[in-house]
Amino acid sequence: MAADKLGRREVLAGTGIALGATVIAGCQTYGKPPAAASQTPATTPGGGTTPTADSGLVKTSAVPVGSGVIVGEVVVTQPTAGEFKGMSAICTHQGCTVSEIVDGAIKCPCHGSKFNLDGTVAQGPAKKPLEAKAVKVQGDSIVLG
Ligand code: FES
Repeated sequence: MAADKLGRREVLAGTGIALGATVIAGCQTYGKPPAAASQTPATTPGGGTTPTADSGLVKTSAVPVGSGVIVGEVVVTQPTAGEFKGMSAICTHQGCTVSEIVDGAIKCPCHGSKFNLDGTVAQGPAKKPLEAKAVKVQGDSIVLG
């Protein structure tokens, strides 16, 4: 019997050490954006990297309808065919760069904020929309301005 109780204590002590180590490891990364978040090439729902045009931000044909692409610090979306919107890729919560656009939502990797294709907040903790950036179609490309 005594050996049984001692065995449980050892097991519990071991579990406590393991949990403590996990908590400490978790604290080391809390609050920091993922290392690659601001430098990760933007991806499209198809998984490709963002194509860029020689002039302008991106070719219009590279911006999926109902989605968008992230080009550096600019997000270009096409909520409906032929309607392009531009906005900053810097999350209004704590300044991380949004990382992907999936299922019509622009996602921030740091704390889970999601933005609609027009930049408005779909899910916090961000409370403010992404900063609008004026974009226009010039030839077959999207340009700032
Ligand atoms: Fe916190 Fe984007 S920086 S959700």
